[in-house]
Amino acid sequence: MIVPPKGMNLKGKSAIVTGAGRGIGRAIALELANQGARIVVADPGAGRGGEATEEAPADQVVGEIQALGGEAISALAPVDDYQAASGIIGQCVEAFGSVDIVVNCAGVLRERMIWNLSEDDWDTVIRVHLKGHYNMAHHAAKVMRGQRSGRIINFSSDAWRGSVGQANYAAAKGGIVSLTRALARELGRYGVTANAICPIAATRMTMDQGVIDGMKRRLETGLITQDRYDSIMAMPGPEFVAPMVAYLATDAAEDVNGQIFHVEQGRVSIYCEPVEEKALLKTQDDGMFTVEELIDSIPGSLMVGHPNPAPAEPES
Ligand SMILES: NC(=O)c1ccc[n+]([C@@H]2O[C@H](COP(=O)([O-])OP(=O)(O)OC[C@H]3O[C@@H](n4cnc5c(N)ncnc54)[C@H](O)[C@@H]3O)[C@@H](O)[C@H]2O)c1
Repeated sequence: MIVPPKGMNLKGKSAIVTGAGRGIGRAIALELANQGARIVVADPGAGRGGEATEEAPADQVVGEIQALGGEAISALAPVDDYQAASGIIGQCVEAFGSVDIVVNCAGVLRERMIWNLSEDDWDTVIRVHLKGHYNMAHHAAKVMRGQRSGRIINFSSDAWRGSVGQANYAAAKGGIVSLTRALARELGRYGVTANAICPIAATRMTMDQGVIDGMKRRLETGLITQDRYDSIMAMPGPEFVAPMVAYLATDAAEDVNGQIFHVEQGRVSIYCEPVEEKALLKTQDDGMFTVEELIDSIPGSLMVGHPNPAPAEPES
């Protein structure tokens, strides 16, 4: 393999970064451009919860990349619209002649407990994250399969394991993990890889004024310790996530496929494969398990090492 000049690992490649007007997406767009890629900065400038705004952060990021000597164009269409997503892919092909890298970083957040989570909160978060990922992967795959090369880098979250007050977000991010694993298996043979990142970074999503005020209240009412508060307030910036995305986009990562990584300042880790851990077995001749047998045997076998994450509490 020919090693490109230092800092130009993506020279000649074209990349679409969704949600690139702010936060992690913006940091990635700048890093990929810094590595020589030409960038479609895709972002309609949505509010934190997906509301329409008058802001045009994509144009600002295009300006930043151009000021650094890079090549970039903006795409203001929302990724959750099937046709609009196809248009973003088309814009990249028209401007740069290929689609080598798609980074799915667009995201919104609507946090409520499940009993308060409205249908609109559910639909909006699932649509932007999960359908947005599908839209971009689906349209990109048609081009990448023909090219017999490509990189799809998705954004999940550690919340995919289940997080309180985020049923919509956790479900979307879990869906993105499964989608990524499926894409890897469908597209790998065509030289296209798909991986996902669960990041931690201080952005509008994690550290807007509402979050900061909420943390202050928790500190004042003793719900969190000063140490916990200080560590949340010191959350590192999104620039620490970008190099891992650039790495996954390089030729050097051609066999890194179908993996889920956690990335934050000073820490890159990989999730284990989801496997069945242990089983209760019956031969065909023994017939089916009865409910009584399961009551008797599951607690002392399958459930060992699997505590209830939220045991019932007495009413206060
Ligand atoms: N910041 C973190 O610690 C963290 C943790 C876990 C996961 N994530 C994920 O990382 C990704 C980036 O998050 P961030 O923290 O940079 O958030 P952010 O709010 O700073 O940026 C998200 C960007 O997505 C854009 N966007 C929203 N809806 C869009 C749509 N329909 N089409 C295109 N763009 C749209 C917004 O305009 C915004 O610029 C998200 O998928 C998020 O869920 C972030």
